[in-house]
Amino acid sequence: MTRIAVLGAGRVASVLAPALAGAGHPVVLGIRNAAPEWLTEPLTHASVPEAVHAAGIVINATPGETSLDRLSTLRTELAGKILIDVTNATVRARDGMPGGLAYPNSSLGQKLQQALPETRVVKTLNTMLFPVMANPGLLTIPATVFVSGDDAQAKQATQNLLTDLGWRSEAILDLGGIETARGPEAMILLVPDLLKARGFSPFALTIA
Ligand SMILES: NC(=O)c1ccc[n+]([C@@H]2O[C@H](COP(=O)([O-])OP(=O)(O)OC[C@H]3O[C@@H](n4cnc5c(N)ncnc54)[C@H](OP(=O)(O)O)[C@@H]3O)[C@@H](O)[C@H]2O)c1
Repeated sequence: MTRIAVLGAGRVASVLAPALAGAGHPVVLGIRNAAPEWLTEPLTHASVPEAVHAAGIVINATPGETSLDRLSTLRTELAGKILIDVTNATVRARDGMPGGLAYPNSSLGQKLQQALPETRVVKTLNTMLFPVMANPGLLTIPATVFVSGDDAQAKQATQNLLTDLGWRSEAILDLGGIETARGPEAMILLVPDLLKARGFSPFALTIA
């Protein structure tokens, strides 16, 4: 099975890494600090470049606003690999919540694909609160998970991982090329108001 590197050790990584390992995938966490408390076997950890080097599929679960600079420096390590980007790139509002879009006329997905031409970038999972990513059944209304990317094989590999995370095939919506990441990424503008209006309870966008 292809080794998966999950970059980051925060809320999103803490959901995705154990769930993928539980589905039988070898998973290495790419982190810059000490291993998080929730990291247990069979999960392993390494520095970010080492984790990327060891993996065939890389999932970016680090802050979106700095991802372009950081991942661009790993162009050689990421060459030939699938990069699944689940992040949102925003400029922070005064209250620390996501403010405006970091790439208002584009998207982080597109920027990453331009910066990493030898890497197959896929955007997904960024339109929901983290607990839903590996547990779509948490919501009473079936959620949608969007997929954007230029490479059909990379999108199929991503969809297989989504299936392993519990997503039914009818919930997975392939929007097209990586340029279609722009719409789902812009949905982050809704999130601060959504959290203020209904609290920190799980949500996901759905197409009904
Ligand atoms: N939370 C959600 O519900 C949600 C939903 C959809 C999308 N997202 C997106 O997913 C991404 C991660 O969100 P999160 O909630 O998991 O964030 P988080 O809890 O703040 O975790 C971010 C992780 O990234 C790591 N990190 C930060 N800067 C780094 C660097 N320079 N090099 C390596 N690692 C670095 C942090 O490491 P340290 O522990 O060392 O600080 C931390 O482990 C964000 O882009 C967010 O927009 C989040």
